[in-house]
Amino acid sequence: MISTSSSRTIVLGITGGIAAYKAAQLVRLLVQHNYKVQVVMTEAACQFITPVTMQALSGNPVFISMWDNAIPNGMPHIELSRQADAILVAPASADFIAKLVHGRADDLLSTLCLARDCPLLVAPAMNKQMWENPATQRNIAQLHADHITVLGPDAGEQACGEVGLGRMLEPDDLMQALQAHFTPKRLLGKRILITAGATLEHIDPVRAITNLSSGKMGYAIAQVAANMGADVTLIYGHSTLALPAHVTSIQATSAERMYQAVMQHVSNQDVFIGVAAVADYSPAQSAPQKIKKSEDTLTIELKKNKDILADVASLPNPPFCVGFAAESEQVIAQATQKRFTKKLPLIVANDISVAMGNELNQVTLIDDVGTHPLPLLSKPEVASLILQHMANMLN
Ligand code: C5P
Repeated sequence: MISTSSSRTIVLGITGGIAAYKAAQLVRLLVQHNYKVQVVMTEAACQFITPVTMQALSGNPVFISMWDNAIPNGMPHIELSRQADAILVAPASADFIAKLVHGRADDLLSTLCLARDCPLLVAPAMNKQMWENPATQRNIAQLHADHITVLGPDAGEQACGEVGLGRMLEPDDLMQALQAHFTPKRLLGKRILITAGATLEHIDPVRAITNLSSGKMGYAIAQVAANMGADVTLIYGHSTLALPAHVTSIQATSAERMYQAVMQHVSNQDVFIGVAAVADYSPAQSAPQKIKKSEDTLTIELKKNKDILADVASLPNPPFCVGFAAESEQVIAQATQKRFTKKLPLIVANDISVAMGNELNQVTLIDDVGTHPLPLLSKPEVASLILQHMANMLN
């Protein structure tokens, strides 16, 4: 079964700090990822961002007071924490963190944190001196001891003009941390090497042969594998995408460099997943200087590149190898043939007209048992299904 966030409810607690403005973007991301978001703000948070903004973005009324009579049983602290799959407090001020440590319950947000029966995650945001203060550090250690997840803080420029630790993590990073939090750790202890993106083969210093692969599918596989607990190394080609979190990423732009990087890192890997669109051919020679326009025609001699995946699968003690077959016709037949030729336990077949550069993908998994078509889904959802299938095969 695909793990989906569609049925999850997040209580997003917002406390008083300038980073509260970023909570607006966080709500948008949560909603985009199909979470139901219930915002609870402290009085101080309302000085920084309005409840109306948060209500409009979350699509739900915002709660601030213990004495709000919108909750039918008159017990918002119990009712809201009952509905929650997790409470995320972002930003969490130094004062609010101190309250959590002491189990205080003098407003709605602190009371529902105390009354919760679900995981609590906090994203501290404060001035660097406040963060470094021994009192705050003691409090953070206590949060860890109480099994509260502390996300960040980040280092960098602060609203007060100082530079240092104390910035709230960016909304994208918090979103990612939440996704990881909800992902079962089915690949814990597994080492996984992944290639992703297009390669780029130089013709001369300013020209190159590449292809239209965006790298989105490979990056999604790397991110979801890391979320599932794997120790992931990503070798990526020509791509401008933001790199996945908690993954060792190495750039290797040409097919030859990618080959070298894979061979350097493949020992001790449990799994190798070749998602990269590796060029089949590259210029036999790359001109050292820019080629000048002279003749009416120009011939570039191409030489065949080594097949990284096939060579990894032929190693004496190969990792579990997963291939991708992006085809424009006879998709299943061609992928089945590739699985056989490259000696792969699992191959993922897809039609290039659906996948290339797109946010969605529709793939069919082919293994010894047969073909397993998956629905049209976002690339992270497809990655999740591929990796769950793979985890079943590994166990
Ligand atoms: O043979 P074809 O290029 O269609 O095979 C695609 C699969 O092989 C993908 O998994 C791709 O990452 C991998 N591959 C490779 N090295 C190459 C060519 C393809 O690892 N030189």
